[in-house]
Amino acid sequence: MSRKTEKCTECVPFRSLTNEINSPSSNCNHFHGDRYPKLYINNYIYLQTVCGGDIIEVGKYNVIADDFQHGKNCKIGHHTCIEKEIVVGDDVTIGNYCDLYHGIKAGNSVIFQGHIRIAPNCRIGNKVTFKYGTILTTGVLVKDKAFFGPNSIVLGGLADRKTKYGTVIGENVYIGAGTKIAAGTKICEDVIIGANSFVNKDITSSGVYVGNPVKKIRDKL
Ligand SMILES: CC(C)(COP(=O)(O)OP(=O)(O)OC[C@H]1O[C@@H](n2cnc3c(N)ncnc32)[C@H](O)[C@@H]1OP(=O)(O)O)[C@@H](O)C(=O)NCCC(=O)NCCS
Repeated sequence: MSRKTEKCTECVPFRSLTNEINSPSSNCNHFHGDRYPKLYINNYIYLQTVCGGDIIEVGKYNVIADDFQHGKNCKIGHHTCIEKEIVVGDDVTIGNYCDLYHGIKAGNSVIFQGHIRIAPNCRIGNKVTFKYGTILTTGVLVKDKAFFGPNSIVLGGLADRKTKYGTVIGENVYIGAGTKIAAGTKICEDVIIGANSFVNKDITSSGVYVGNPVKKIRDKL
């Protein structure tokens, strides 16, 4: 495959990839991968390099859709797949082995730590953290400052898949490691869910909840 490799001083170099490949700036016509839908460089496979012009660090072996939109200071680890129609804000970190499915929208300062799977059309607010192994299935709404402990699973759709945003994780909700949230449940703001709990019904008042199914143990966080 032929490609143009001359450097352009206007381009911001991809730090972790190769100095030959540059991320695009708004008024630069040099090669950035975005005109070549399938670009194979050594073992790196890019459906297209990222766009936007702001500094972004990208690791190895990622597959990133051509329309990925990101803000400033984003970082992507290795072995991660970012599907179509995904938009993330500033200061977003997407770690290793993440699968982000189409249509996800996320705000600023979101951390997808690693081994994360976010299913299509989830909406994620600002300052949300997903620790290792978190899974969100289709159409979950996550509000600002929510925290997901390792291996937590949030189900978004019932069998008929009609519960878009039926599952809502409220602002400042802390979900302990290994917790499961049933589809169609809504958790209000300022809630802590203990590790390995199961949430099977709406939580409508703030406090600390533990167990399977969850029961409130305290009002205050
Ligand atoms: C829920 C939690 C915050 C409660 O902490 P706490 O306020 O210090 O509560 P206590 O340890 O005093 O426990 C109060 C009671 O709840 C029980 N309990 C606490 N956490 C529980 C849990 N996850 N599941 C079931 N019961 C739990 C305790 O056994 C205790 O019961 P008892 O009164 O019958 O003895 C904490 O136990 C927890 O699960 N934290 C999440 C940790 C985590 O996942 N971190 C991820 C890091 S990345």
